[in-house]
Amino acid sequence: MNTSIKIEKAAEPEHVPAIMARDPFTVVIFGASGDLSKRKLIPALFHLENGGYLPDRYAVVGFSRTPMSDEQYRDAMFDDLKTQKLTDPEKLTPQHKTVQALHYIPGNNDDAESFKKLEARIRELEEERNLPGNRLYYLSVAPEFFATIVKRLKEAGMIRGRHDKTWSRVIIEKPFGRDLQSARDLNTAVTEALSENQIYRIDHYLGKETVQNILSFRFANSIFEPLFNQKYVDNIQITVAETLGMEGRRGAYYDTAGALRDMVQNHMLQLLCLTAMEPPSALDATAIRDEKVKVLRSLEPFTPDEVAAYTVRGQYTAGKDPDGKAVKGFAEEEGIKDGSVTESYVAMKLRIENWRWAGVPFLLRTGKRLKKRVSEVAVTFKRPPLHLFGHNKTSDYCLLTDRPQTNVLVLRIQPDEGISLSFACKQPGLQIQLNDVRMDFFYGKAFQQRSPEAYERLLLDALRGDASLFTRSDEVDSAWRFVTSILDGWKVLPRPKYPNYAPFSDGPDEAHRLLEGTTAQWRSIAAM
Ligand code: BG6
Repeated sequence: MNTSIKIEKAAEPEHVPAIMARDPFTVVIFGASGDLSKRKLIPALFHLENGGYLPDRYAVVGFSRTPMSDEQYRDAMFDDLKTQKLTDPEKLTPQHKTVQALHYIPGNNDDAESFKKLEARIRELEEERNLPGNRLYYLSVAPEFFATIVKRLKEAGMIRGRHDKTWSRVIIEKPFGRDLQSARDLNTAVTEALSENQIYRIDHYLGKETVQNILSFRFANSIFEPLFNQKYVDNIQITVAETLGMEGRRGAYYDTAGALRDMVQNHMLQLLCLTAMEPPSALDATAIRDEKVKVLRSLEPFTPDEVAAYTVRGQYTAGKDPDGKAVKGFAEEEGIKDGSVTESYVAMKLRIENWRWAGVPFLLRTGKRLKKRVSEVAVTFKRPPLHLFGHNKTSDYCLLTDRPQTNVLVLRIQPDEGISLSFACKQPGLQIQLNDVRMDFFYGKAFQQRSPEAYERLLLDALRGDASLFTRSDEVDSAWRFVTSILDGWKVLPRPKYPNYAPFSDGPDEAHRLLEGTTAQWRSIAAM
């Protein structure tokens, strides 16, 4: 039984310090007509403007192949904005400052001439709008263009140096490489043109309010952190479950990636780092990232035998969605090659070989077409040393035959963002009967203000020059070092027996194999 105990609303802080991007700037979006730009970047700028986070002067320049004029681009983005879930839709008019800041220039990502034209146009705009020349280049393009664009920017003299008065920063979308070697090659290519502090490798999970809260929860309270170690924690489970499948055009990309590259190398390992890292010496980019790297370095790469023992991958079968509508199996999805071994699900058991976590299993799983869309970090604590409340011969006071459930602390990333802690409680009555109850905190109930979207947070940080929530090259390298050992193992292991899980289920039954030798149980996705 789960009885909920309501936690009272947290007191509002008296003073919320204003953070804003103070330097006038130009954002240049490569891949300006793509989905990310329409659904996330332009809405993020719109919200930042409405919140008063942007300076009085700025420009946004879209760059992509589609021929369009400034007006056409502005109209298209305005129409798209109308279809987005905006916090303050009434503020959206064609005269809105963000809409009016939009400009466009068509061009090719690998064409020196296009970059000359782009530079000339930006300079014109900077002149017109009295902008000093600070630039944020956002690479929202296919990964094969990352290195090329950075090179072209450099050649066209579009990157400011360390001694310039103005700044140039480049946001690079994921995936940053597809294995250790390609990530290193890409890093070498981009660092030929940029210094590390100009590179902002984005992982949108780090912009999520609940993900940032992992550090606040752990290090702004004194009662949880002392328990976060091998002495008290039995196991930690990180689940990122999605109900979506390939939804048409995504299949072609996904087939080249798979769940391990698409979700584990970045988002899930970031969640792992934040959950497992030591307290940083300060809340700044260097200190936070130093601690995350230490966690990643403690993940020993797997041998092929370990890959076989500690990972499970899957592909979903065809089936029905909860409304009874037929859905395709992974292999039949558009864009998936015949005989593809790409995993739409992966689960693994890892160990962080350091003083704090030695011996604690970390169980990670993520997949498409699972039972429910839910992401969480669940920390299961060890049992008390003695089962005091068991039914025994000398007393009929206790009725319990089974031991109570162990305490579980759940950091709920999405949806229904919040935190819950379960514990055993005496059920009212003259005998002792224990029940599992929960203390729940929900963001939505405790706070009235909206949670900013991840991209708002991250764009603002990049405009302010704060890289704390972006990944550093050594982080990416260490994450790939571990993930590549799994990719290498899979290459030499027998082909998995696909398909092996039903759509809208908890994933392959085989995942239970990972629990052997532990006291952990997979948490039911449906019950999350
Ligand atoms: C992206 C992956 O990085 O994250 C997608 O490429 C995935 O496959 C998405 O669906 C999940 O993000 P969110 O914010 O919806 O959990």
